[in-house]
Amino acid sequence: MPEKIKKIITSDSKQLAEKGAKIFCNTAKKVIAGKNRFAVAISGGSTPRAMHRLLAQEPYLSDIPWQNIHLFWVDERVVAFDHPDSNFGSAKKDFLNNILIPTDQVHPMPAMSEPQEGASIYQKELQNFFKSFDSYDPEFDLIFLGIGKDGHVASLFPDQTQLEENKRWVISVKGGQPDLFRLTLTYYALNRARRIFFLVSGKEKAPIVKTLFEKSQVQLPASKIRALNGEVTWLLDKEAASLLTR
Ligand code: 6PG
Repeated sequence: MPEKIKKIITSDSKQLAEKGAKIFCNTAKKVIAGKNRFAVAISGGSTPRAMHRLLAQEPYLSDIPWQNIHLFWVDERVVAFDHPDSNFGSAKKDFLNNILIPTDQVHPMPAMSEPQEGASIYQKELQNFFKSFDSYDPEFDLIFLGIGKDGHVASLFPDQTQLEENKRWVISVKGGQPDLFRLTLTYYALNRARRIFFLVSGKEKAPIVKTLFEKSQVQLPASKIRALNGEVTWLLDKEAASLLTR
């Protein structure tokens, strides 16, 4: 694990969610003060949901400048948006239905179409968005990531050839739990973010956290996350950090 990784440990999952919501809010305000827009990509899974729910509650609800926020996804399962496994569907339930973000600034991954086609549609959407701000690379201002017990990140799973993708920003894969077709950002897109925050909670993640932080030469999807133009911070609750020795 490269040395420029920051670690913040919270007492429990509730404090982790609070910390994550504060980071979302404060980073958005700081970036928008500078360039009037904020491009953030969020992950699916269960860990970030408590944070997402807080974003739709005070003090965050009225403190976050939703009018200047552009919301994207790190990955999505290829299921209908009202399917319980849909990351977009969960986000709608958790906060999107209760915030005043302009609908054309919410960019769900097109999980309804043919996976490959969905990946190229989303890549086009990302390219058009960033090009409109004179950027030819996917420079997200903030990305929240989770991590699987197997060390996967986004929907980049161990031992999959897609990990080597170094041109496309979005690809389709099959795998994970549930084992579904998915769309996912690639390292090309993830590693060009200005700020990357891993959100990790619970005892079951402690072994993979220890492996990533303390074992050398680890070749897991999560160990290939590098913020080329910024920094990576791990937000861990005490249980997830419980096996770390340094
Ligand atoms: C997904 C997520 C995935 C998730 C990890 C952790 O769509 O499944 O993006 O990468 O972040 O699997 O999931 P939990 O937070 O549920 O442990």
